Order: sequence, then structure tokens, then C-alpha cells
Amino acid sequence: MKKIFPCIIGLGYVGLPLFVSLKKKFQMIGYDISKTRTKELKKYIDRNKEFTRKDLKLENKSLITSDHVDIKDSNFYIVTVPTPIKKNKYPDLNYIKSAFKIISKYIKNNDIVFLESTVYPGTTLKICKNIIKKKNKNINFFIGYSSERVNPGDKIHNIKNIPKVVSIDANNKIVSLVKKVYQNVSKKIVFTKKINEAELSKLIENTQRDLNIGLMNEIMILCEKANLDFNEVIRLAKTKWNFLNFKPGLVGGHCLPVDPYYLSYYAKKLKYNTEITLAARKTNNSMEQFVLKKIILKLKKLRNFKKRKITVMGLTYKSNVPDYRNSLAVNIYYKLKRMNKNIKAYDPIIEDSFIKKNNINTNFKEIMKSEIFIILVKHDQIGEMVRAAKKNKKVIIDPLSLI
Ligand SMILES: NC(=O)c1ccc[n+]([C@@H]2O[C@H](COP(=O)([O-])OP(=O)(O)OC[C@H]3O[C@@H](n4cnc5c(N)ncnc54)[C@H](O)[C@@H]3O)[C@@H](O)[C@H]2O)c1
Repeated sequence: MKKIFPCIIGLGYVGLPLFVSLKKKFQMIGYDISKTRTKELKKYIDRNKEFTRKDLKLENKSLITSDHVDIKDSNFYIVTVPTPIKKNKYPDLNYIKSAFKIISKYIKNNDIVFLESTVYPGTTLKICKNIIKKKNKNINFFIGYSSERVNPGDKIHNIKNIPKVVSIDANNKIVSLVKKVYQNVSKKIVFTKKINEAELSKLIENTQRDLNIGLMNEIMILCEKANLDFNEVIRLAKTKWNFLNFKPGLVGGHCLPVDPYYLSYYAKKLKYNTEITLAARKTNNSMEQFVLKKIILKLKKLRNFKKRKITVMGLTYKSNVPDYRNSLAVNIYYKLKRMNKNIKAYDPIIEDSFIKKNNINTNFKEIMKSEIFIILVKHDQIGEMVRAAKKNKKVIIDPLSLI
């Protein structure tokens, strides 16, 4: 390979940071199937609010495109497309399959392909590799997997300082080319030849987190039933040196409510039932109903609550990110709204598409006229607003003790 010419397939929360890191060093192609996304990126607009105009300026003759023919000269493909679940909670690999079908049109001898989407073991070597092989019987290519740990909205753990697991079973020459690329993404590469194990390691990272949050949610529900102060219980327990400091909450987004199902699906294929993993999912999903009930109970205790101005604050899947995929806060808002049409929502950073679709009021002054505030997600701005509302003796309903 004379010159490494990388290409990112899928420029979302994961793909764009990779593109931005690598374009400083390489001539790059950024390909996304969504014309809206590429149009915006060409105008240096990132709707995920992770990057500024300056970050998105193209250097080294790099290109952003929604025309897949533009990837034809690339020789190092990195796939970062979504991996959701189907209605039955089984993995939906359709985005991955379609991305690999595109690669198989253009792959050449000695090209390198990496999958970065979160998948169950065997996806890279059995499914993805076979899609390319089927169309290119006489082409010799290399395939690897690198798990993605980017944490949107997190200013401390950024792409550069998070260690990156990179796996490929290839000769030293290829491994050194791979490292040459990935060392521009992360300061610390954790290398392995074992792709299946790298795939599983990603799944367990998120499953472990989901499980720990699930346990805290369970304890919170228990405290509520026992009429005990959850925060006080945790304050006491935390004084033990090895207590794990997880917080209860509404688990949403593209990873935690999805990846444990990938793990369970994989186990099921091996005729093993991952009971603990699925129990945590069940508890975490049940938090939507728990929080909703808690809010309704509090509202009903307020005089004339149906006639008063009520605002639900924070709708995204976690604080300080615009992403609202699988957000339980959104579900709670919709259910409250069905109950009482006058209930409004406010989220200062949620994606514009949601604001337009749901006719959300973003006028700060208007919002502050509300009499009752229900806090579901605490973005930094929301914390400040609630403190101001408290001073003005407004009613604050904070079912998850976020403030
Ligand atoms: N979001 C996170 O914080 C995060 C963290 C770690 C891992 N992951 C994993 O990374 C993967 C990507 O997640 P994401 O959050 O970046 O998703 P995303 O939806 O933000 O971005 C995916 C992009 O891929 C594009 N796309 C879909 N099919 C395509 C195709 N065939 N060709 C080209 N582009 C295509 C979409 O238009 C979209 O812009 C998932 O497997 C996810 O589980 C996500």
C-alpha cells in the first residue's frame, strides 16, 4: 500500500469524531447515506453539536459525500453505521449488511476493512467478511474490528485519551499499517488478534453499566415502597471503600438499551440464557412507568394542577447530549401530554428535528412563566433554570433526585 487513503462509512456520533481525527493526517473520504447529513457537514454544521465549524473544515483534499462511488480509491474502510434492535429485541444488522455490500463493489487487493459498530461475536468474521468474499472471490483483503468507546457530551473522556481496542489477524506489515491509522485516533491502542473476543468485550462494557444502573434503580424502587430515603441510604452505603457509585436513572440512547440484547442473542444461539443481563434490562425499562407514576402522584396532590402551567424539563437520553434515540424521558413526556394537553416540554439542546416535529417552545422567558417544573434530564442549563425557579417558589417535581 503506497499511501493510506481511509474512508469512514457512516458519519454519525461515532463516525464523525473518527473522520475529524484522521483528516488532520490523511486525505479522507467521509461517506454517509444520508444526503441531509452530508449537506450539513459540507456547510460545517454538526447537528449532534459535538464539533464546531473550525473542527469540520476539510484539509488534505478530503471529501464528504453521499455518493458511494467516491469511496472507490480508498484502501482503508472503517464502518460506523447503526446497529439497532428489531421489535423482538434481536439484532438488526441491515445497516451493516448494506455498508459491506457497498464496500464489496469497490474493494481491491490488499485493502483493509474495519468494523467499529457494536456487534455480537462472529459478525465481523462470518457476516461482514462473507458479504465481501461472495462478490470478490479472487481479491485478497484484510478485515478487523475496533470497538468504539466515544462518549458524546463527555469533555473528560474524549476520543484521543480513551484507550482503543483494535483487532485484526494479519501479518506484521498490515498490523503496522493499522496501527499507523489508529494511533491518530487514540493515544493508547490495545491490540489483539482475536476479533471475536474484541467484539464481546464491547458488549460487556455496556452490559455491565446497564446492570449496575439497574441495581440502583431496583434499590430506588424498593426505598420508595419501604418509604425510606434512597439518597440517605446511598450516602451511608457509599462510605464503604468498595461501594460502586452508580446512580439510578432513565436508561436510553443507542447503546445501553440495545447492547445487552446483542449479548443475550449471542448467548441464546449458544443455548445459554443470560438471566442477569435480561433482568437488568427489564428493571431499567420499568423505570419509565415508575417515574411516570411518581410524577402523576405528585401532580395529583397539587391544587388545580390541570389548569396550571406545567413544563417537563429535559428529554434527551442523557444530560448534555442532543440525542433522543430510545429516550425514556420522551416516552414519559408523551404519556403526560396524553393525560393533559397543556403540559409543555423544554430541552435547550435536543436535536432540532424533535423541536420542529413536537412544536417545542424554546423561549426561555416563556418557559420560566410555568408554575410547575418536572425534571427528567439535567442538562447544565436546566440545572441553572431550576435553581432560578426554586428561588421564585415554583413547584419542582424531581422524581430522580437530579437537582
Ligand atoms: N453513539 C454512541 O455514543 C456510541 C458509542 C459507542 C459505540 N456506538 C456504536 O457505533 C455504531 C454507530 O452509532 P452512532 O451513534 O454513530 O449512529 P448514528 O446514527 O449517529 O450514525 C450512523 C450514521 O450512519 C449512516 N448510515 C446508515 N447506513 C449507512 C450506509 N449503509 N452507508 C453509509 N452510511 C450509513 C447514517 O445516516 C448515520 O449518519 C453503533 O453500532 C453504536 O452501537 C455508538
